[in-house]
Amino acid sequence: MDHQEQQHNTTDNDTLAAKHPLLTPYKMGNFNLSQRVVLAPLTRQRSFNNVPQPHAILYYSQRTSKGGLLITEATGVSDTARGYPNTPGIWTEEQVEAWKPTVDAVHAKGGIFFCQIWHVGRVSNYGLEPNGQAPISSTDKPLAPAEFSPPRRLRTDEIPQVVNAFRIAARNAIEAGMLLFFK
Ligand SMILES: Cc1cc2nc3c(=O)[nH]c(=O)nc-3n(C[C@H](O)[C@H](O)[C@H](O)COP(=O)(O)O)c2cc1C
Repeated sequence: MDHQEQQHNTTDNDTLAAKHPLLTPYKMGNFNLSQRVVLAPLTRQRSFNNVPQPHAILYYSQRTSKGGLLITEATGVSDTARGYPNTPGIWTEEQVEAWKPTVDAVHAKGGIFFCQIWHVGRVSNYGLEPNGQAPISSTDKPLAPAEFSPPRRLRTDEIPQVVNAFRIAARNAIEAGMLLFFK
């Protein structure tokens, strides 16, 4: 690029920044984002039986731009992590495999894709828990709204199981090709 071209580009970028600051590049740690518009994590409840579905390929790739940042909908770390029906998980091999085509589609368009992994604690009910058990939590105090069942406070010796679920989910997300974002 010669000097004149460089000057021209700088002027173009300055004009763009003045007009549309959201569309200017941003360095986020190791990532050079092409612009500052980010796809926030948005629970969709379309992952039947907690398995991401092929239609997620279209949903996420439509929202991808080259160098743009996307965060997945909150994704469960275990079968006790669910607070809403049909939210995706990342604790089984089937779920990991089911995420891959969506991850590949986002990467094919140059997107930067983070997986949001979560455990909802007591924001749950008997119907979403394995064998209809009480949601697990740090407390046995129920939340006020009737849709949430009274939780069971974890024993201290059970806490490592939840930590381990996050560890495995994080590894699974990396195996599926994603970066990580915790909730
Ligand atoms: C339908 C819906 C689903 C959402 N799902 C998630 C989610 O899965 N994880 C999360 O951290 N936030 C979730 N949020 C919060 C959004 O990410 C949040 O609304 C967005 O970042 C914009 O922030 P604001 O609502 O404070 O303006 C959700 C919001 C809505 C409206």
